[in-house]
Amino acid sequence: MKKIVLAGLFASTSLWSANIIATKVHHSISEVATGSPLWAGVKESKVTLYPQTTVKMNDKIANQMNADNGSKVAKVKAIYTDTEIAFLIKWQDETLSIQKGYKSDSYGDGFAVQLATDYSNPEALPYIGMGSKGREVFVHLQKANPNVFEPNGNGDVEMQVGRKNTPYFGTELEAYDSAVKDLGVVDYERNFVSAGFRSMTQVRDGVNSNMNMIYNLNKHCWAGTLSRDLKDEYLNLEGTVPVAFAVWDGSRNNRDGLKLLSGWNSVVLEDETELVEALNGEVSGDVANGKAQYDMNCAACHNTPFMAPSLANIGGYASAGYLKESISDPSAVVVPGYNRNAHKNTPWYNVENGKRVSTMPSFSWMGEKDMKDLIAYLKTLKAEEE
Ligand code: HEC
Repeated sequence: MKKIVLAGLFASTSLWSANIIATKVHHSISEVATGSPLWAGVKESKVTLYPQTTVKMNDKIANQMNADNGSKVAKVKAIYTDTEIAFLIKWQDETLSIQKGYKSDSYGDGFAVQLATDYSNPEALPYIGMGSKGREVFVHLQKANPNVFEPNGNGDVEMQVGRKNTPYFGTELEAYDSAVKDLGVVDYERNFVSAGFRSMTQVRDGVNSNMNMIYNLNKHCWAGTLSRDLKDEYLNLEGTVPVAFAVWDGSRNNRDGLKLLSGWNSVVLEDETELVEALNGEVSGDVANGKAQYDMNCAACHNTPFMAPSLANIGGYASAGYLKESISDPSAVVVPGYNRNAHKNTPWYNVENGKRVSTMPSFSWMGEKDMKDLIAYLKTLKAEEE
């Protein structure tokens, strides 16, 4: 009993996300396969992927299927050479799902590797859900479907979602509808630079990368690889770099934002740096007081659908730096959610002078201890492992 009380009052997590140690190899890895001997002996890190719960889809069935989603542990390895880096990611998935046609209700499994374009300030990394304004991410995406629903045929990912899957309402939905003219069918390995869900730009040239994914029918396990150059016009990977992973489960109608997502993990290509500390440092505080702060200041909005994003899994994928920033400076990163067209009385943001301004008030007035306790409490909000 005493133990339970203590655990409730004081929580400390030493590992927020994984620290992945990349092993240097001396062969080209640009085409490295999932079964390559180069992976043997490389340190494996466990990366937990949490259900992304910020925005609900316009799809009741999918929302129901994922209502009680647990988290999932993926096993990740990294290797590098003087010019390239490669990741191997393995995750459990009971069903092999390959999208059979873009018009049907079947969805493919998939995975993505996300890299921050600027990680000079580890306390202010891009928003984990596909980057944010002024803080871009580079996304490598591989879907197990040979075909993709690409309504406008332009390779413009903003339009690569079915009508039901969009978060659009009102004029945005009209704009979406008018853009949906033609259907295209394309093989699906893609690269994007993304500064948020509504501003993803597909990258076709200037990046040497290769992805593949293979399903093991006996083990019910996917293995995927990404290899890419360390340096190109978008990224300059050296030292310790942040990386995040996402997986989609087609059998649960996962697509677009509906997925499992990790937080930022540090990948060490050489000596430890500030980033390792920012992503793996201790977070501690009085969780009971943190919860009291939450109930008093935050619950009214965050426990009400449509008022504010659900924070049910925020502890899984947000770093303490991000949480602190969200609380004291809400407009620094504005979550791509409902705008004024969606819920006229409770928009998540307004647009002022072309800039999104969060409707969440700043809590920068909060005392240091309350803020620390609140963050410790938020870090406990995450789904159990399945
Ligand atoms: C008036 C309603 C309101 C209150 C009160 C409020 N929030 Fe928010 N919050 C929002 C809205 C709307 C957003 C989405 C827009 C944005 O990103 O700022 C948001 C976003 C967030 C995010 C980012 C979520 C994500 O998925 O990245 C966090 C974290 C957060 N709030 C924490 C808090 C905490 C902690 C409190 C209490 C100290 C709080 N909020 C109080 C409305 C509110």
